[in-house]
Amino acid sequence: MKDSNGKVAFVTGAASGIGLGMTRAFTRAGMRVMMADIEHEALSAAAHLLRQQGAAVDTVVCDVSERTSVFAAAAATLDAFGKVHVVCNNAGVTSGGLIEDCTEGDWGWLIGVNFLGVVHGCQAFVPHIRRQQEGGHIVNTSSMAGLLGGMPAWGPYNSTKFAVVGLTEVLRQEGRAGGFGASVLCPGGVNTQIFEAPRNRPARFGLQESIVADNVSTEDLQRGLDPDVVGQLVLEAIQANRLFIFTDPRFRSMLQRRHEKLLADFEWAAQSAALVDAGAPGSQPPG
Ligand SMILES: NC(=O)c1ccc[n+]([C@@H]2O[C@H](COP(=O)([O-])OP(=O)(O)OC[C@H]3O[C@@H](n4cnc5c(N)ncnc54)[C@H](O)[C@@H]3O)[C@@H](O)[C@H]2O)c1
Repeated sequence: MKDSNGKVAFVTGAASGIGLGMTRAFTRAGMRVMMADIEHEALSAAAHLLRQQGAAVDTVVCDVSERTSVFAAAAATLDAFGKVHVVCNNAGVTSGGLIEDCTEGDWGWLIGVNFLGVVHGCQAFVPHIRRQQEGGHIVNTSSMAGLLGGMPAWGPYNSTKFAVVGLTEVLRQEGRAGGFGASVLCPGGVNTQIFEAPRNRPARFGLQESIVADNVSTEDLQRGLDPDVVGQLVLEAIQANRLFIFTDPRFRSMLQRRHEKLLADFEWAAQSAALVDAGAPGSQPPG
């Protein structure tokens, strides 16, 4: 989607952080934006400020973990703007604790918001984008934690962010015939309110009992990128139709090490006694 001017975007988690940064970048590029968030007051305040600056935005309160809420938000977007071209399934939350300590509620909340929230956004909006035949683009927010595993005490977050990468790669293929693109945003540290996420935990997931992991601190986050820079990068990546959107080039070497480990384990498996003795396709006796 090369030309953004006049297009309509729907952004979740738009009251704060990266979602707000995307909204600002999109409106600067002449887009109209439906801002969706679970936090009513923060959403109204953010939209009020943007309108004062001349931006064309509307708001809808939405809990992305609830399918009916996202479908209602899609209907509200079409009512307000008539069309939709860009959908950013961005709302996300975090919670920590060792895998065995995380409660059913911890898992349910993170899977509900971080993963099913993305599924709901795709299901509610993609049929409209296909029908319009004007092109479009879906941006799903994952994380570097969606490509680099192994962060102790980040099990639910790591797992849901990996799932978002997998889903987006499928969506991108499915979009080829439908004339729309898809990207997965994999930020490193961004200066947002993500560590205050439990403020938005619905009662049905129970109280937060696990402890937030201490291997990334609030101070680390405060040293992170400005969300407005991320918003501008996302706009550029939509126009260039990139699959992965990375915000921190320093992670390249860690990703490279992960891939080297993957390849090393393929080589080990090919030479393993179990596969070699069975004459399995691709196996190679050592030496
Ligand atoms: N900040 C970072 O360093 C970082 C790094 C990697 C990935 N991310 C991802 O970026 C995305 C945006 O987070 P952020 O860092 O801007 O945090 P943030 O807390 O500043 O913003 C998240 C927004 O999502 C909203 N939200 C929470 N639950 C919701 C729900 N159920 N339905 C609708 N809205 C809901 C919150 O009210 C908030 O406005 C998340 O998916 C997060 O996992 C952030």
